[in-house]
Amino acid sequence: MKYAIVSDIHGNLPALELVMADALQRGANAFLFAGDYCTSAPWGDEVVSTLRTAFPALCVRGNEENHLRMPPGTDGQFAVTYWSASKLSAENRSWLDALPERVNFTCDGVAIHMTHSSAVFIGNAEHEPFRTSLLPLRYPDGPVNHEDLLQDIYRTLDANPAFHETLRTLPAGVYIFGHSHSQWHARFGNHLFINPGSCGLPLECGAFGAPYTLLTIENGQCSVEERRIPYDREALIAQVKQTDQYNAARVWSEVIFREWRTCREHVIFFLRHAEKYARRIGDERRPFAPDTWEAAYEEWAEIENPHMEAP
Ligand SMILES: [Fe+2]
Repeated sequence: MKYAIVSDIHGNLPALELVMADALQRGANAFLFAGDYCTSAPWGDEVVSTLRTAFPALCVRGNEENHLRMPPGTDGQFAVTYWSASKLSAENRSWLDALPERVNFTCDGVAIHMTHSSAVFIGNAEHEPFRTSLLPLRYPDGPVNHEDLLQDIYRTLDANPAFHETLRTLPAGVYIFGHSHSQWHARFGNHLFINPGSCGLPLECGAFGAPYTLLTIENGQCSVEERRIPYDREALIAQVKQTDQYNAARVWSEVIFREWRTCREHVIFFLRHAEKYARRIGDERRPFAPDTWEAAYEEWAEIENPHMEAP
């Protein structure tokens, strides 16, 4: 059995289509989708329609699926979320609302567990050291080599006594999650952890492209192949600029363009700047008012190295 594991698509339909075509070409029998299907790129509704017709497939809910339930507001900060939610068909919204937080199943004697965040399985062992806002500081010298990232994650987990304590009580099996937007996998004894990275918005300070991971189970043995499908990010950005999202949520779209261009977190750094800016002009409204949100962005866009700004 060969599973194609895909996560954090974030409305990026072109990336999803590339990944699904590659997975089928490489003999995948089933898809596992680990959450965050909409918001950031403008094709969330089309992504959900694609997932609903993928076969066979299992899907869990991500944190973005919960954000889509927010009632629409008049702020600038969540304009992209309101826009994404407004584009969902009633059927696709119901389908998202019905998604489980977690799925557990067995294949060829191997127990497989999938949820959106690794915190459910291993607490903060991944999230604390490898938060997307810390990675640009952890790897300040340009793109990190993927093998170096894998080794860094393995060594960091291995040196964490709390992680080893968790392993003692965690049943043997394969643990699948996304959320951190970094592709990695690691084996510790009879536990295999797989994060396929973010198909639509990779942030691990490495190469651009659409990552996903193939998991093959044969005679009770697991093997992993990490894939990353290259494509033209400037063509993607040009496509997004032609959509209504760009008009409805220009600031968010521009910040996402930066993330695509650098494969690094920018949203959190911009939010920190917006907070400082709003305090400076005495605007206490949160979420941020449209004018404050826009003006904070114009100022932030001029900062040469926003990752190095003090929190
Ligand atoms: Fe995500």
